Amino acid sequence: MMAKSGDISVFSVLVTGSDRGIGLGLVKRFLQLPCPPKWVFATTMDLQGEENQELKELACKHPNLVVLQLDVTKLESVQAAVAEVQKCVGEGGLTVLINNAGIIAGSDLDRETAKDMMRAYSVNTIGPLQMSQACLPLLKMATRRTPCHGLSACKAAIINISSILSSIELMDRWETVKAVAYRCSKTALNMLTKCQSLEYSKHGILCVAIHPGRVKTSNAEAEISVEESTQGILTVLSKLSEEDNGSLVDWLGRQIPW
Ligand SMILES: NC(=O)c1ccc[n+]([C@@H]2O[C@H](COP(=O)([O-])OP(=O)(O)OC[C@H]3O[C@@H](n4cnc5c(N)ncnc54)[C@H](OP(=O)(O)O)[C@@H]3O)[C@@H](O)[C@H]2O)c1
Repeated sequence: MMAKSGDISVFSVLVTGSDRGIGLGLVKRFLQLPCPPKWVFATTMDLQGEENQELKELACKHPNLVVLQLDVTKLESVQAAVAEVQKCVGEGGLTVLINNAGIIAGSDLDRETAKDMMRAYSVNTIGPLQMSQACLPLLKMATRRTPCHGLSACKAAIINISSILSSIELMDRWETVKAVAYRCSKTALNMLTKCQSLEYSKHGILCVAIHPGRVKTSNAEAEISVEESTQGILTVLSKLSEEDNGSLVDWLGRQIPW
């Protein structure tokens, strides 16, 4: 699947880890759509924090934007945030869950620690698992809005933001970037995506992992801006179909081998 252009129309979307970086960029993209979602949920770990000033300003301008407190590693926080989403969307459900929150953690093999391994898995792998479990009833509800056959992000989707560094076949930039904990946690996220795709397709929910590109956020080796990455991701979302279910693609829709 190669993305060219296209606007997506969804009833509701939740982007985790969206007070800065790619998450914030995705929220802005959804708000700027010609036909924006009725509900856009953004999340921050600290509602009072300085980091989320831009998000708060956006929420003042866009009544369809709701900012939620969320730490994806804490089940109570996940459940509380999803309960807020449910209050807003009601029977309409949640159309798209984007598990974007993530941390770069890790070192080379000699110096890798149990602490970093657990931290990376906790945020990058277990976080998306728990978010998806909590949102599942809302995602199922959303599919009823689009009774047609097949899978699409307009119907219901879980999008896990992975990384090219997760690919075992490519072992991208191994000589320069070790980040063992990060790589392993994102490879596990890919497996989670595959498991979700097999289990949830029968409910009409599409599950795809997306590499956002090397983006100018915390990435010192960045190649593209947040704007380029998020424009690409939205175009990819608009074109995803059944044949992409359970795969890893990049921000231009190109397949990445496992
Ligand atoms: N940038 C790249 O080049 C690149 C390349 C490949 C993949 N990715 C992936 O793309 C995603 C976004 O990356 P980014 O560059 O935008 O990262 P970023 O600028 O570091 O932002 C990460 C976001 O995740 C949030 N977060 C961290 N831990 C969390 C937790 N426990 N619960 C909830 N939210 C949490 C952060 O919240 P706070 O602001 O509160 O810390 C922040 O909003 C990540 O999954 C990353 O692995 C990025």
